[in-house]
Amino acid sequence: MAFSARLAHALAPGMVIYLRGDLGAGKTTLVRGVLNALGYQGRVKSPTYTLVEQYEAAGLHLRHFDLYRFRDPEEWETAGFRDEFDGRNICLVEWPQQAEGLLPHADVEIVFEILPAGRNIALHAHTQTGNECLNKLQS
Ligand SMILES: Nc1ncnc2c1ncn2[C@@H]1O[C@H](COP(=O)(O)OP(=O)(O)OP(=O)(O)O)[C@@H](O)[C@H]1O
Ligand SMILES: [Mg+2]
Repeated sequence: MAFSARLAHALAPGMVIYLRGDLGAGKTTLVRGVLNALGYQGRVKSPTYTLVEQYEAAGLHLRHFDLYRFRDPEEWETAGFRDEFDGRNICLVEWPQQAEGLLPHADVEIVFEILPAGRNIALHAHTQTGNECLNKLQS
């Protein structure tokens, strides 16, 4: 939760963040922490069935994807998912490998590892925007 609060304050509009890790690794928990840190008061539920949930908090527009059940590349277009990556929305994507080739590239990738107690996370920046985000996290 402490890390997600720091991440919340290092986000910029339009960022794409991939969340990688096994079932139960803490991806949704991180998104919940980010939204809480931005002052979002409502419930943050896992988009397991809806595939995407949307939020507005602290003047930011967030989209939380969970593509675990995503199977049909055609749905990518028909559901309008592509339109969500519009340079304004901050898109946090669980199970990005399910839509490989369709999904825009990540600015930042967060890889979760389950430890006997707690979690380890590794951060990777893939763009200038991603670098700036990780720099902000360190400051
Ligand atoms: N850093 C953490 N330390 C200990 N427990 C955690 C941590 N992060 C999450 N958990 C616990 O692990 C469980 C699963 O977390 P979560 O739903 O966030 O996983 P997920 O990665 O989104 O899984 P899925 O791929 O199924 O969506 C929850 O009970 C949560 O409280
Ligand atoms: Mg989840």
